[in-house]
Amino acid sequence: MHVIGGTASTSLAERISRELGNAPFAIPFTKRFPDGEMYVRVGGRFEGEDVVVVQSTRTDQDLVELLLLEDAVREAGARRVFVVVPYLGYARQDRRFFPGEPVSARTFCRHLELDADVVVTVDLHSSQTLTHFSKPAFEASGIPAIARLLRERPIDLLVSPDQGGVDRARRMAQLLDKPWFALQKKRLDSEHVELSLPSTLPVAIEGKQVVIVDDVISTGGTIVEAAKLLKKRNVAGISAACTHGLFLRDAFERIKAVADEVYSTDTLGNPAEKASVAPDIAQILLRESSA
Ligand code: R5P
Repeated sequence: MHVIGGTASTSLAERISRELGNAPFAIPFTKRFPDGEMYVRVGGRFEGEDVVVVQSTRTDQDLVELLLLEDAVREAGARRVFVVVPYLGYARQDRRFFPGEPVSARTFCRHLELDADVVVTVDLHSSQTLTHFSKPAFEASGIPAIARLLRERPIDLLVSPDQGGVDRARRMAQLLDKPWFALQKKRLDSEHVELSLPSTLPVAIEGKQVVIVDDVISTGGTIVEAAKLLKKRNVAGISAACTHGLFLRDAFERIKAVADEVYSTDTLGNPAEKASVAPDIAQILLRESSA
């Protein structure tokens, strides 16, 4: 199995190659044509080989690069192409909210699977998105990676900032054998939320080391408000952990102003990338390549 790391996911791709028993790893050559179009070239031939292409699609350009890489490894003789999209962009528009809109998640899935035999992604906004793939598609979870990291940290309690994250907090709490609860969240607009504590708490939170766990940190508004709310209840310390750390604009600095630590997985390059999903992705790749 060969691993190719796209420009959006080079470090994670290298970690995946190590998890695959030091599978050959390569970074393709990329450049821009004068008109802005992208050029990619992979080195060598992959005749009869399985090739893993790793590329998050945070930006439109990342998606173009992924499509070109898939075609390039096919052209270079790959037998099977395993497409790993650690962060699947546009997945949040997973239904038509208003007439005239696209189902962005669906069209992304259709296009990025064109040259794929198997697709692997991580913590989708909604697991329903997997149904848009016609090829075998799998969702790795960021929870074990974050749990492996938190096991080394002094924590007492896990908090989900909203009801949508109940399963995540519960699963992580089980892995760490800690109590958890979920806040109530009302989204006011794309940047502002209103949060409140549930009427009953499973444990007293005063003096506790609390970790707020979320799937995505985007503007940081959710984590900042959650941290402020918990601080009012005199918790001893607050950390924030997520799978996908987008940290738009000054989100990272705003969170650091209210939280002691910020952790994310390595699905997107960011300063909080302290937990790797490479073992969890590699496990799926090994299973599917031998299926
Ligand atoms: C919402 O449903 C998600 O789970 C996250 O809570 C949300 O995307 C975080 O966004 P932001 O950082 O902009 O508050």
